[in-house]
Amino acid sequence: MSDLPSGKPMRVLSGMRPTGRLHLGHLKGVLENWLRLQPLHRCFFFAADWHALTTDYATPDIVRRTIWDMLIDWLAVGIDPDKSTIFIQSEVPEHAELHLLFSFITPLPWLERVPTYKDQIEQLREKDLGTYGFLGYPLLQSADILIYMADAVPVGEDQVPHVELTREVARRFNHLYRKPEQPLFPEPQALLMPAAKTPGLDGRKMSKSYSNTIDIAEDWATTEKKVKTMPTDPARVKRTDPGSPEKCPVWEFHRIYSSEEERAWVRDGCTTAGIGCLECKQVFLKRLEAELQPIRSRRADIAARPDDVHDIVRAGNEKARHEAARTMDKVRRTLKMDYRV
Ligand code: TRP
Ligand code: SF4
Repeated sequence: MSDLPSGKPMRVLSGMRPTGRLHLGHLKGVLENWLRLQPLHRCFFFAADWHALTTDYATPDIVRRTIWDMLIDWLAVGIDPDKSTIFIQSEVPEHAELHLLFSFITPLPWLERVPTYKDQIEQLREKDLGTYGFLGYPLLQSADILIYMADAVPVGEDQVPHVELTREVARRFNHLYRKPEQPLFPEPQALLMPAAKTPGLDGRKMSKSYSNTIDIAEDWATTEKKVKTMPTDPARVKRTDPGSPEKCPVWEFHRIYSSEEERAWVRDGCTTAGIGCLECKQVFLKRLEAELQPIRSRRADIAARPDDVHDIVRAGNEKARHEAARTMDKVRRTLKMDYRV
């Protein structure tokens, strides 16, 4: 991830949609980046339940079901409520108020040219996304970011245009309503998280829609079984057939998890049929176990105390609302809407 200019702690904000169980791809591609930022900056991390409804408006029960699992996953990997503000978007209605005010000043073409817009409508044909809210959702994201005066937004590549839009909206708001020497909103920068390179069990990118995931919340027996039944180089029909790691999805995991020596051992053993595939998988299973088991045992502890989780999120919601209300006061004053009646 591109690093922040060091020195001054910044305000960092990021959100995640509660649309399904989190897997290794989320852990490696998103949460580990959040964990690196957490000790250094003022971080806000939220469950983007309204964003989930922009595409999944027909199934609010899924959002409801997954939101707690997702928040518990965050806590289990080490997102720490003493350091970061953890909250639920819809618990802070000020996001919607700011979104509305931004909608007045945002030219339609700014939204129509966001690349995810046409892409997603094409890709998710089964859902009718010709809605007002779907077009406006990047602007809702701008409100999410600016309401906390965030300077830095860790996102994947697909979300960079949304941060760019946010900068334009901030600039337009400042230009329309404020003196040049007194802007209200910062122009936040995207912190690009390297595209999640986490391979799936079948060699394709790990993704729920391919059913090739290792989920954070599953048990070890399930993970072990998934790995043991993973496809390998099809040339290795029998134990005595040599193979090539480059043609094997297991190798993609060795790239991430194994040491240089272990990889040399795999390369050698595979191409000479000196090792069997199960033996080969065992090596990275050990690493995977060392990584996942502490997370899973913390997860079980946390999940067993739902009241504590509620308390954590309630406190986070309050902190977020406090910050959001301060910004909205300034926005209302700026727009001459501080009637005080
Ligand atoms: N749109 C993001 C996604 O789909 C989630 C999100 C919503 C977000 N609001 C945000 C990310 C604000 C960063 C900042 O992944
Ligand atoms: Fe894949 Fe390892 Fe089997 Fe080679 S030995 S085919 S790398 S699982």
